[in-house]
Amino acid sequence: MSASIGTDVARAVALLQGGSVVAIPTETVYGLAANAFDPEAVLHIFTTKQRPSFDPLIVHIGRPADVHAVVRELPPGAEELMRAFWPGPLTLVLPKRPEVPYIVTSGLDTVGVRMPAHPLALDLLQRLDFPLAAPSANPFGYVSPTTAQHVADQLGEAIPYILDGGACAVGVESTIIGWDGTCWVLYRPGGVPVEAIEAVIGRVDAAAKQVVPAAPGMLESHYAPRKPVHVGDVDGLLPLFADKRVGVIGFQRAFAVHRNEVLAPNGSIEDAARDLFAALRALDASDVDVILAERFPDEGLGRAINDRLRRAAAKR
Ligand code: TXA
Ligand code: MG
Repeated sequence: MSASIGTDVARAVALLQGGSVVAIPTETVYGLAANAFDPEAVLHIFTTKQRPSFDPLIVHIGRPADVHAVVRELPPGAEELMRAFWPGPLTLVLPKRPEVPYIVTSGLDTVGVRMPAHPLALDLLQRLDFPLAAPSANPFGYVSPTTAQHVADQLGEAIPYILDGGACAVGVESTIIGWDGTCWVLYRPGGVPVEAIEAVIGRVDAAAKQVVPAAPGMLESHYAPRKPVHVGDVDGLLPLFADKRVGVIGFQRAFAVHRNEVLAPNGSIEDAARDLFAALRALDASDVDVILAERFPDEGLGRAINDRLRRAAAKR
């Protein structure tokens, strides 16, 4: 099998109705989607990605009201959050309905759900009478894809169709928060800044270190290129790699090294997030020996960027 790439939503509908997986665009990253109510279809996601079964999937819906098809009850603040951020890059972890199979949630009684802000994804979801379980469309542990070509490069032989929605506008995965019975807890920083969430519902706590499950976003090594990655003050790091071909991921400026990926000369943190994963892929595919990345200001989207860079740098 070799994937074709196109914009044929009807074809994606037919494949998904038939129990197949399809790669779909979202505003954050491309997802590898299947019928969330069909355990066999969902199993294809895990085998295609070589994803461990302990790692639960996010369920995508096409209308806010569809949340009731997957979620048993909405805790305090959930409706305010949905109104403020859906469609958009915010995943809510909520008590699941029995119709959601345990393969989706890795045995948990909660389910992560979000409504993506991408016109093709919403068109697709609104034509289906089931929601879509979809993790990022990359082999487990690697950098997430932000173009259809990224998906084709790695999973093209294993999937029938890639719905091409162009380059992802946000570029980092959704922010994930969950209700722990008394308060909202941050599981993964992402496309919606925590500050914006707190402006709607008040304080969001940091997740306890030993959260079960180990969300892939929480595994220390994740989002990782094959080349070694080091994050920090690049001027300070450079002397340590004087005998190496160095590639730098810089925020606003270039460095005197073999290759530079300057994410946002204009200083826009949104632009930096959008282009981060493509830059990691480009340097990973280049002739550099090592990738150095600047640390970003630890606020707003900078928190998500720093989180992904730190995990990309973690030792496997
Ligand atoms: O932006 C995104 O979220 C993208 C696009 C495709 O929507 N999806 C994505 O999926 O990043 P994935 O599989 O790469 O990450 C899913 C995250 C994992 O960290 C998983 O553990 C967490 O969601 N998650 C899902 N259900 C959960 C649950 N019930 N409790 C805790 N964490 C959960
Ligand atoms: Mg992922």
